[in-house]
Amino acid sequence: MHPNIVSSPEKAAEGQQKIDWVRRNMPILRQLETEFRQQRPFTGKRVVVCVHLEAKTAYLALVIAAGGASVAVTGSNPGSTKDDVVAALDALGLHVYARHGATLEEMEEHMSLALDIRPHVVIDDGGDIVELLHGSRSELSADVLGACEETTTGVLRAQDRASANELDFPVMLINEAQCKYLFDNVHGTGQSVWDAVMRSTNLVLAGKTIAIVGFGWCGRGCALRAAGLGAKVIICEVDAVKAADAAMNGYQVMPLLEACRKSDVVLTVTGVRNTIDRAQFEAMKDGALIANAGHFRNEINVDTLQDLAVDVAAMRDNVVGYKAPSGAWLYLVGDGNIVNIACADGHPAEIMDTSFALQALSARYLVEFHETLENGVYHVPEEIDQQVARMKLASMNISIDQPVKNS
Ligand SMILES: NC(=O)c1ccc[n+]([C@@H]2O[C@H](COP(=O)([O-])OP(=O)(O)OC[C@H]3O[C@@H](n4cnc5c(N)ncnc54)[C@H](O)[C@@H]3O)[C@@H](O)[C@H]2O)c1
Repeated sequence: MHPNIVSSPEKAAEGQQKIDWVRRNMPILRQLETEFRQQRPFTGKRVVVCVHLEAKTAYLALVIAAGGASVAVTGSNPGSTKDDVVAALDALGLHVYARHGATLEEMEEHMSLALDIRPHVVIDDGGDIVELLHGSRSELSADVLGACEETTTGVLRAQDRASANELDFPVMLINEAQCKYLFDNVHGTGQSVWDAVMRSTNLVLAGKTIAIVGFGWCGRGCALRAAGLGAKVIICEVDAVKAADAAMNGYQVMPLLEACRKSDVVLTVTGVRNTIDRAQFEAMKDGALIANAGHFRNEINVDTLQDLAVDVAAMRDNVVGYKAPSGAWLYLVGDGNIVNIACADGHPAEIMDTSFALQALSARYLVEFHETLENGVYHVPEEIDQQVARMKLASMNISIDQPVKNS
C-alpha cells in the first residue's frame, strides 16, 4: 500500500484523545469491538471506510480492524476531515489518506489511494466510493462483496444505479434502517446543526425566525430543536404530505422566497443542488445567517453568492459576510459545507453509536451472506435493526415488556 497521507503527524496525541472520548461514549460499538476481537469475522478481508473522517469514524474503523480486517480509511468530505484524527489513525498503523481542506480532485485521489487496498467491503457515506468503483476504478468491483451506504444522498445514488441495472455488487442501505434515521437524521442532525451554528456565530437562536428548507428526517429534527431553543420555525417543502405534516406539527409553512424575506436564519437540508440560489439571496434580510445541513456543498449556490456580492469580509472562523447589491449583509456559515460536521464535531457519539453499529453488523452480514445476495440494493435485515435497538436500550438501562399474544 501507499504511504499514508497525513498532514499533521504531530497532532496524533490530540486525535487519540478524541478517539478515547468517543469510545467511552459509544457503548454499543464497544461491545461489538469485544465480540469482533473474539470472533474475528473479517479475517482476511480488506475494508475501505469512507465516512466524514473524525473521531467516531476512526473508532468504527478500529472496530472493523479488531474483527481482523485490513482497513483503509479516507474522508467523504474534505471540509469535515480532522487532521489530528488522521494522525492518530496513522500512528495506530491503519492505512489513511485524507487532509482537511483538500480540493475535490485531491479528495478523489485520496479515495483512489484507499481503494488500492482492493476492498472486499466498502463503508461509504454519500456514494462517492461506490461511484468510483463503477467508473475510474471499475476494475476493482469484481472483488467487492458489497457496500454499506450511510446517508440519504448515497442511498438515492445507489437506488438510481440499481433501477438502471447498473450496480456491480450489493449495497446495504444503512440510512433506511429505523435505528439510523430515527436517531441519526432526526436527533443527531437536530442537535449538532444548532450546536455548530451557535458555536460559529456566538449568537442567540431564541426569538429568531428560522426557515428550514426540507422537512425530511433531518429537517424534522432541526425544526424540533430550533423550536425547543425558542426560535419561530418556518418550514419550506415541495412535497405536499411533508408540508401538511409540518403544518400539523405547528410550524408555519410557506414558499421559500417568502420565507427568505422574513427569516434571520435559513438552513437547507434537502439533498438537492442549488436549493438556495440568486433569487433567494436577493430576497434575504440584512444580517441573515445561511447554513447547509445536507450532505454535499451544493445546496447553497456559493458561486452565485460570491458573484453577486459587492463586498466580502471574514467575520469569524467559519463565518463569511457577503454584501448583496441591496446593501444587505448575508452571513454564510461553514462555507456551505455540511455545517454540523464542518463547524462542530458532527453527531454526538451516542447517536453515531447506533448508526455505526448498523454499519459494523451490516458489513459482517455482507461477509457472511454475500453469496445469497444479488447485485442490487438491500435494506438492513430486521433482526440487525432490532439487535441494535435492544443494545441501545440496554446501554440506557431501559427494559421493556414482551408483546401480549392476541389468541
Ligand atoms: N447533517 C447531517 O449530519 C446529516 C445527517 C443525515 C443526512 N444528511 C443529509 O441531509 C440531506 C437530507 O436528508 P433527509 O434524511 O432529511 O432526507 P429526506 O429525503 O427525508 O428529506 C429531504 C426533504 O427535502 C425536501 N425537498 C427537496 N427539494 C426541496 C426544495 N427545493 N425545497 C424544499 N424542500 C425540498 C423533500 O421533499 C424531502 O422532504 C441529505 O443530503 C442527507 O444525505 C445530513
